[in-house]
Amino acid sequence: MIYLDNAATTLKKPPCVGEAMLRALQTLGNSSRGTHTGALDAAHTVYGARCALAEFFHCPRPDHVIFTSNITESLNIALSGLLGPGDRAVSTDLEHNSVLRPLYRLAAERGVGVDFVPADRQGRVDYEDFERLLRPETKLIVCTHASNLTGNVVDIKHVGEIAHARGALLVVDAAQTAGTRPIDMQAQGIDVLCFTGHKGLMGPQGTGGLCIREGVEIKPFKVGGTGVQSYSETQPEQYPTRLEAGTLNGHGIAGLSAAVGYLKELGTEAVEAKEAALTRRFREGVASIPGVTVYGDFSGEHAGIVALNLRDYDSGEVSDALSEDYGIATRPGAHCAPRMHEALGTKEQGAVRFSFSWFTTEEEVDAAIRALRELASDAR
Ligand code: ALA
Repeated sequence: MIYLDNAATTLKKPPCVGEAMLRALQTLGNSSRGTHTGALDAAHTVYGARCALAEFFHCPRPDHVIFTSNITESLNIALSGLLGPGDRAVSTDLEHNSVLRPLYRLAAERGVGVDFVPADRQGRVDYEDFERLLRPETKLIVCTHASNLTGNVVDIKHVGEIAHARGALLVVDAAQTAGTRPIDMQAQGIDVLCFTGHKGLMGPQGTGGLCIREGVEIKPFKVGGTGVQSYSETQPEQYPTRLEAGTLNGHGIAGLSAAVGYLKELGTEAVEAKEAALTRRFREGVASIPGVTVYGDFSGEHAGIVALNLRDYDSGEVSDALSEDYGIATRPGAHCAPRMHEALGTKEQGAVRFSFSWFTTEEEVDAAIRALRELASDAR
């Protein structure tokens, strides 16, 4: 299989990830629950992973790195823990349902006001709209770093400056950028960074987290056992236990930690450069195919994602043909990004998304271009 669905999950992982997970499965007890060797090994593994991620994202305090099961959980924790009645949030049309649905629910259940920065037909935002939509009650801006549909990258640093000038926080959805382009919470002014482990970080599914700037107080989404302060009726106040009720995914965290170590050796800039080159090669390759429409803005920073349509063909049928006839994996349909599709005018047709990773080769990209050329010339 030629795997070009890395925006959904990376399928090829560095070998050290599986090795670390197997070792963890065979040796780890429960982190923070006991002082025997297995429990201590688990605690060391989890703390090591916090330190590795804190360094990777420039989060000054490892104890402000929180582990979750995926970025959807991270975003639910951040948004529901920060927004209350009377608050407002600014977001964008680029967002995934992992941002939209928590916001819609907070609007319905807590009366939180939500304003959306519109996207144009190329999926671009106008930064002046962030300024325009901010009001005194706006508690935060929640914004994706890169659209999971077009791959357009948002200038997070600029959005952070706008938010902070008006006393609002910046919450970033880094689902499509963590591991594939440098993220520096301090330099980019990110107050809460939400990430997932199984995409660009090349770790296992079931891992993710938040990095929280010191001083940002997030109320717990879930409460329960933490291994400390057991006689207290309320959740411990201090991070990370405040937001980590229940047994952690120690085996997954061990794999994620190994993946971060691998990426650190490699250098995120190298991954970014490789994905940019593959994206350019693919886009230039499909540009001359009659009937291909590519979505997004490629004039600036771009993630390793290209979404397109072939004539007026249903995106699901094209994706199925690529899979069945050519062994090429892509993702069609709505991509959990309803507002983005509405902005692009692709609500009915959806789009076929190709997404690359560090392990994608030029030969695989060329095979995808050839397949699309054949499908375009086919009188189906
Ligand atoms: N959010 C993932 C995607 O864009 C699953 O495909």
